[in-house]
Amino acid sequence: MDVRSLKISKIDVKEELGPLYTFDARVAKANPALLARDGEEWLLSFLTKEHDSETWVWKTESGDLVGYISLIDKPKENSMEVLRICVDPPKWRKKVGTEMMDFAEKMALKLGRRKVDLATNKANAQAIAFYKKLGYRIAKEVENYYGEGEIRYIFEKALS
Ligand SMILES: CC(C)(COP(=O)(O)OP(=O)(O)OC[C@H]1O[C@@H](n2cnc3c(N)ncnc32)[C@H](O)[C@@H]1OP(=O)(O)O)[C@@H](O)C(=O)NCCC(=O)NCCS
Repeated sequence: MDVRSLKISKIDVKEELGPLYTFDARVAKANPALLARDGEEWLLSFLTKEHDSETWVWKTESGDLVGYISLIDKPKENSMEVLRICVDPPKWRKKVGTEMMDFAEKMALKLGRRKVDLATNKANAQAIAFYKKLGYRIAKEVENYYGEGEIRYIFEKALS
């Protein structure tokens, strides 16, 4: 698969909730350290009510979902937050995630933000290795970040 051949589009999560949730649940099953709850309504609420994020999807030319990223613009903090990033498990380690984070950083720069930040479960080894590889550093550790008793690392990267 050539990452450059993937098509990027912004979606309305509510309209594409069924396929997005099916995809998300598959990713969460492959990586149990990813925060996830049963049910489409949870995902809708997490992405659009608990957090005011916007979502972009990466699809193959034949329309198969390969990954998605949900971003929160935080002008007051001069930052863009990656709320969620998921790549289809059979496509891991093919640089799709790198491409998606690059997209987030370009978007942040376009909006004039000076950094990208995100929270990840301290137990999410693959995500931690991924963010470190992309130049993110751990700014702090927060207990009970999503109220479920788990420790989150807050990663950030200054943009230039
Ligand atoms: C984290 C995730 C988005 C990474 O996407 P990806 O497309 O597989 O990542 P890339 O191929 O761009 O990886 C870039 C580099 O990150 C590092 N990396 C990525 N996954 C890794 C893993 N499982 N173990 C160690 N390093 C890893 C590697 O250095 C990799 O480069 P390499 O393959 O040449 O060694 C993907 O694994 C995923 O969807 N995980 C489940 C959901 C999740 O945990 N999201 C993060 C929530 S905070």
